[in-house]
Amino acid sequence: MVTEGFRRTHWAGELRAGHVGERVWVAGWVHRRRNHGGLVFLDVRDRSGVVQVVVRPEDGEAFALAEGARPETVVRVVGHVRARAPQAVNPHLATGEVEIAVERLEILSRPDPLPFLPTDRGVDEAVRLRHRYIDLRRPEMLDNLRLRHRLTRAVRRALDEQGFIEVETPTMTRSTPEGARDFLVPSRLWPGRFYALPQSPQLFKQLLMVGGVERYYQLARCYRDEDLRADRQPEFTQIDVEMAFVEAADVQAAVEAMMARVFEETVGFRLELPLPRLSWRDALDRYGTDKPDLRYGLAAVDVGEAAAQSGLPVLARALAQGGAVRALSVPDAGRLSRRDLDALVAAGRETGAAVVAWIREGDGRLGSSFGAAAPEEALSALRAAAGAAAGETVLVVAGPLAGARAAVGAVRAAAARRLGLVPEGPTPPALLWVTDFPLFEVAADGRLESAHHPFTAPADEDLPALLAGEGDPRAFGSKAYDLVLNGFELGSGSIRIHRTDVQEAVFRLLGIGPERARERFGFLLDGLRAGAPPHGGIAIGVDRLAMLLAGASSLREVLAFPKSASGLDPLTDAPAAVDPEQLAELGIEVRPPAAVSGAEEGRSP
Ligand code: AMO
Repeated sequence: MVTEGFRRTHWAGELRAGHVGERVWVAGWVHRRRNHGGLVFLDVRDRSGVVQVVVRPEDGEAFALAEGARPETVVRVVGHVRARAPQAVNPHLATGEVEIAVERLEILSRPDPLPFLPTDRGVDEAVRLRHRYIDLRRPEMLDNLRLRHRLTRAVRRALDEQGFIEVETPTMTRSTPEGARDFLVPSRLWPGRFYALPQSPQLFKQLLMVGGVERYYQLARCYRDEDLRADRQPEFTQIDVEMAFVEAADVQAAVEAMMARVFEETVGFRLELPLPRLSWRDALDRYGTDKPDLRYGLAAVDVGEAAAQSGLPVLARALAQGGAVRALSVPDAGRLSRRDLDALVAAGRETGAAVVAWIREGDGRLGSSFGAAAPEEALSALRAAAGAAAGETVLVVAGPLAGARAAVGAVRAAAARRLGLVPEGPTPPALLWVTDFPLFEVAADGRLESAHHPFTAPADEDLPALLAGEGDPRAFGSKAYDLVLNGFELGSGSIRIHRTDVQEAVFRLLGIGPERARERFGFLLDGLRAGAPPHGGIAIGVDRLAMLLAGASSLREVLAFPKSASGLDPLTDAPAAVDPEQLAELGIEVRPPAAVSGAEEGRSP
């Protein structure tokens, strides 16, 4: 490598035995400095890695500079590559067979004393984020940024090859309903009016289909004011895709080809296609969640019949109230202590199941948490119904269907963790489609809400009832699908409504009257009236995908400048107060925070 202008002949981390004898120029940061046997050893780091530079007292000025160079000093080194003595070879370092004998050392920049060094471990995250420019020098961070780069590059190449074109949509726009609150941008020219930052480009991408683009994608920045978690940021990126004249299978095939390329080019893993598909109902019945982690089994089965015949009063009660009884067999082999079992029961109970109990073999008989009076035949029949093999412990949950499913999900995840069934790294991944979601969910206040968003097409068989205003909307199916990776919802998409009458019927069921629909989505309805092709698409979270591929536990590890867990930017201290003049120009008056805190916690419409 030779850079013009600033002279540097090699990346530090690329020097090998083959370079011995060459005169090289390298530049970077002093990673470590050691004074040893009258010599100074500088580990010089650039983005490719680290190389050792040796400075002797007879090197004059260079020696004085090296002696005083504290870690993270920016240097340029001119010298000769030479082989290290055999006993000095470092097999853990890519450049460990060589070192640079210094000829000239230049100090390009001297740092102040730093709050931490890239070599420090266990630095508090708040401090890391406040001084992110230092934190980014850690090779792990740079690796994550590189991985993210390979990810987006693979996405662009794969979609380009399939005829997609990247189109940018506005980030100052109107509210799009994705279930969170909007970040608003006041308008100086139109006092009292606000742009909204997009929660997703959903409506624009649909209008691009009306506009004849046919195959669109965008690495789209989205903004959502919602409660944050390790897998959520207020500002995040989606691989946003939309296609015209397609069915769900076409969208899924396009995404699968893209994901195969992403896995290949990021973690060198060859995905087997097509990906498995699981219906929403089966996902909930077997795994208790619509985003099951299928890296491990532990599927639940319905043991309602055995429960009905068991004579166990708690199970009989749950069934009499119309509830479900499910069981999962855990390959325990004595690894779960009583304490572990109690913890699994507690995890299940937290989700609202009426009953969570265990049955296990021990000392040649069956024990259970149903109580000493539970007849052994009943326990044995439940075990058989659960399909438990010898040595497996059975966990039984019972209660109203939703609670029983949630308990299965919680117990299953907790059992997998305690049994060490959850692999650490990103591969082999469990990537699958969850399909056939319901069209609506029932909110706490009894109103219907879209299970995905209001533009999702209903299942063909439910369309006539929907248009006629008949049937139970809670039973309507949809053409929505999710992409799930290792227990995370990675992406979500659907075939869309492309007929105005269907869209209006859905708005009606959601309690959005014609006037409100026109006010909020008039531009979409007009678009649908202008000759809209059947269309569908998906959006996949880039940050989540990068996090899982990097084997990281938080999105913050794969973003150069993330917000903290509380939504703040510790680096710039955003959000920040603004000048009163700025507010005056916008016609905005800020109430003191006390008047705002405790504001209602409802969802956006
Ligand atoms: P959805 O709202 O499900 O769908 O979002 C799609 C994907 O975006 C990612 N994601 C997030 N990532 C980080 N932080 C967040 N706060 C966050 N919110 C969402 C997730 C999620 O699966 N318009 C529809 C897509 C469509 O129908 O085409 C949409 O936005 O990985």
